[in-house]
Amino acid sequence: MWMVCVLALVLSVAGSGVKVPDKPRLPNFVLIMVDDLGIGDIGCYGNHTIRTPHIDRLASEGVRLTQHLSAAPLCTPSRAAFLTGRYALRSGLGSAGRVQVLLFLGGSGGLPPSETTFAKRLQQQGYTTGLVGKWHQGVSCHHRDDHCHHPNQHGFSSFYGLPFTLFNDCVPGQGSDVLADLQSTLRSLTLLLGLGLVTLVCVRHCGLVDLSPSLLLFLLFLLFCLASVWVLPFTLLRRWNCVLMRDGEVVEQPLIVETLPQRLLKEAKDFIHRNQDGPFLLFFSLVHVHIPLFTNPDFMGRSLHGLYGDNVEEVDWIVGQVTQTIDSLGLSNHTLMYFTSDHGGHLEDRDATGQKGGWNGIYKGGKAMGGWEGGIRVPGIFRWPGTLPPGREVHEPTSLMDLYPTLKHLARDTKPDRLLDGHNLMPLLDGTSQSSEHEFMFHYCGKYLHAVRWRPPGSDSVYKAHLFTPNFSPGGAVGCYHTHVCMCHGEYVTAQTPPLLYDLSRDPSESRPLSAQSEPRYHEALRRMEQAVHAHQDTLRAHVHPEGPSAQLSWGHVLWRPWLQPCCGTFPFCACEEQVHSAD
Ligand SMILES: *[C@@H]1O[C@H](CO)[C@@H](O)[C@H](O)[C@H]1NC(C)=O
Ligand SMILES: *[C@@H]1O[C@H](CO)[C@@H](O)[C@H](O)[C@H]1NC(C)=O
Repeated sequence: MWMVCVLALVLSVAGSGVKVPDKPRLPNFVLIMVDDLGIGDIGCYGNHTIRTPHIDRLASEGVRLTQHLSAAPLCTPSRAAFLTGRYALRSGLGSAGRVQVLLFLGGSGGLPPSETTFAKRLQQQGYTTGLVGKWHQGVSCHHRDDHCHHPNQHGFSSFYGLPFTLFNDCVPGQGSDVLADLQSTLRSLTLLLGLGLVTLVCVRHCGLVDLSPSLLLFLLFLLFCLASVWVLPFTLLRRWNCVLMRDGEVVEQPLIVETLPQRLLKEAKDFIHRNQDGPFLLFFSLVHVHIPLFTNPDFMGRSLHGLYGDNVEEVDWIVGQVTQTIDSLGLSNHTLMYFTSDHGGHLEDRDATGQKGGWNGIYKGGKAMGGWEGGIRVPGIFRWPGTLPPGREVHEPTSLMDLYPTLKHLARDTKPDRLLDGHNLMPLLDGTSQSSEHEFMFHYCGKYLHAVRWRPPGSDSVYKAHLFTPNFSPGGAVGCYHTHVCMCHGEYVTAQTPPLLYDLSRDPSESRPLSAQSEPRYHEALRRMEQAVHAHQDTLRAHVHPEGPSAQLSWGHVLWRPWLQPCCGTFPFCACEEQVHSAD
């Protein structure tokens, strides 16, 4: 035995003799993002009836941000901004109309190949980069296997998870999210075309116009196509959108939801084990707590808040498992862990059994509302023992877009980059700085600017001016229950002139708008914010997707195309099941 030790010692001494001293070790990153989790769902954010001890522990051992903001109130744009460090409209993911997220895996929209993600930058610094879980940034552009939007093309050397998202259509009997909206549009289109066709036939019959039979036939064919899409069987939609991939390969279709959380967790743990010599980046993008909710028997009925609460407590358990993996490998002092949600909870997700879409605490509004705080204020926790002070709280405005420059900084990446909207968070996290570099923040709903935030230096105030507010329905409700999500434009919003101004430091629930009489800095605040908007818009002109801020979410890019559909087995009935080996 001791022969081996001596040999090892000799070898290591010999080794160090020839080696130039290494640069200090690069830290690992574990980023955990929950889907649709509200800030009010977590114990350390003031919820005393839900049990989230593992998340709370990360906060007590690290830094808790209380004004952490997503750059958009919906998945696709918020995640694009998170990954790129820039507002989503710079990548062409700022919606102009009703479609605010990618609707089909077989669409051609997504995070453009020309964009750069933090994963790509870290990869270039020598990191092993992995994504486990939800992506929702598109797959292919021109043909099924070009994978131009795929995580592997965007800097993740390994990917295991959902190229799309978990949604109700993935579980039979849970109803439909995607079709509901699309169906009404298609129904009107079919009706219009049908009426038009009947009129044409009548007119032709009367000899008023000369219509070639082939044109008639073509119109009839078009009508047939529209009608068949409109009555698209739900089972096919489930096959097309509920897909599990490992790197470029479809491994399960349709997704088996019941065992999904365990499989994702196992993959995340395996990734950490495999790469424990580091440096690595793991982006663990949970499919919880988006609906449909999971019904894991180990957590069912345990919380005081129904199935939704059970799911939050399961998330906490998963976070605990990941933390324990890091700690048990002795990696905690070399690993920055981050916990957040992509945007606020979904208020309109409720049924007879109760709330299914999260709780945003004292903040007004929720998911799909770009201006109101409940849609964008999310949990933000950083833990890095030995480097970040335990128990620190930061009340300054910070953004999910700050991760990109922060990770770059820690990976000692100083190479030139594009214009970023985020800032390096390290000075705020370690306490060397007390104030945010975000003097202004712009709160978008799609491509439309809905609100502006101003954090005047040297003051406690945080002003927010709303330029547009969503029209709630039914009247008196907080939420858009008639459309299920709020829209960002047109008749769905009210322009506020003059803007509605609040001071969040005194009125975090945005319930008492300020006036020139009640607020001495009223005019100054509005003027400063207007100037900031102009300066911001100047940067947009030069740094935005060449085809426009909404290019990736146009109907042309969003609608399903058979030749782009990821598929295993025989198209269009795509079917395969992952071979799961023993659970541990
Ligand atoms: C705690 O979270 C649950 C689940 O979202 C919610 O129903 C409840 O109102 C929250 N309680 C507090 C005190 O925030
Ligand atoms: C981590 O760092 C802290 C403070 O520097 C030290 O007390 C602790 O022993 C370290 N833990 C490990 C596992 O290295």
